[in-house]
Amino acid sequence: MSVPLLDLRAQHATIRDEVVAAMMKTVDSQLFILGAPVEALEREVAELSHTKFAVGCASGTDALLLALRALDCGAGDEVITTPFTFFATAGTIHNVGAKPVFVDIDPKTFNILPGAAAAARTSRSKACVPVDLFGQMAPIEDVIKALPGLPVIEDAAQSIGARRSIDGEWRMAGELATIGTFSFFPSKNLGGYGDGGMMVTQDEALAARLKRLRMHGGAKQYFHDEVGFNSRLDALQAVVLSAKLPHLAGWSAKRRANAAYYNKAFAGVSGLTTPFIDPANESIFNQYTIRAEKRDALQAYLKERGIGTSIYYPLPLHLQPCFAYLGYKAGSCPESERAAGEVLSLPIYPELTNSQLDEVIENVRAFYGV
Ligand SMILES: Cc1ncc(COP(=O)(O)O)c(C=O)c1O
Repeated sequence: MSVPLLDLRAQHATIRDEVVAAMMKTVDSQLFILGAPVEALEREVAELSHTKFAVGCASGTDALLLALRALDCGAGDEVITTPFTFFATAGTIHNVGAKPVFVDIDPKTFNILPGAAAAARTSRSKACVPVDLFGQMAPIEDVIKALPGLPVIEDAAQSIGARRSIDGEWRMAGELATIGTFSFFPSKNLGGYGDGGMMVTQDEALAARLKRLRMHGGAKQYFHDEVGFNSRLDALQAVVLSAKLPHLAGWSAKRRANAAYYNKAFAGVSGLTTPFIDPANESIFNQYTIRAEKRDALQAYLKERGIGTSIYYPLPLHLQPCFAYLGYKAGSCPESERAAGEVLSLPIYPELTNSQLDEVIENVRAFYGV
């Protein structure tokens, strides 16, 4: 039996009628750019995230780029982040002209260490970008406390709907940051039928600036307060996402149930470490990422047996050739480097059947001789 890492067709089959009807309504309207469908989705995502404002844009990458620009990050500024993340987190810092400053991760959660972020702060620090990796929120309250007065952009591309209990209250991904950013890339828990992204904030002036920046920097057509971008969410994506949004909580709960099933089956398998979820967090498990001894051999073994896996991420960003100019060396962020050599993401998507889950489990256990 083959088990792909992700099967988007299985999900589409369950919602096809409602999504296609919504898309056809938009096609018939011939209104494709921003408009009522995008505004509706912005309201829905703001509500989900417990934020006052949400602004749609063309991708999760652009959400970071616009957020950095809205906080005036540019030449001469430093932005603190981690190197164990998708490239966009640091690529956008570079692309606004600022310098990425990489600090190491907590080896248990793969998320930023607030103390390391504080130690990296200088007079040039302009912002910090903690990443909510694999569906689990970074310790956002500790990051904010460790960096008094520094704006925080929470890269929640992988974590829409994730939450964290802080002082006895559930706080949503994006809620406490200066700006939170989401991606609607198809493989995300809330994935569009193409690219899309969104920024959330509690700050009205920042929301207004983000709206301007996504439309060439002008609040009024053909009048430009500053130079912005063309980065809009289109109406077709918005109606797909609004149709999918009511399912998100159920899909993420199914991912958690799949994770719990794996955790139980892998308990005691020596050579393998199951994901650690901070007890304060409720993860949405965008990925189920183990640490594995003989990781590459395990991946090859599973591939031969039709089981899809992926390595997120094989080379931490501080060691990427494009960032050689920053001067980091092997050993600069040891936990990120160790993680890159050990991690393997297994299929976790909500439509997995019990027999598919068992197939993955049996093969992983067989690899380790149990
Ligand atoms: C952590 C992180 N940041 C940013 C992005 C960029 O999102 P997008 O692919 O929508 O541009 C992604 C998505 O792949 C991501 O995983």
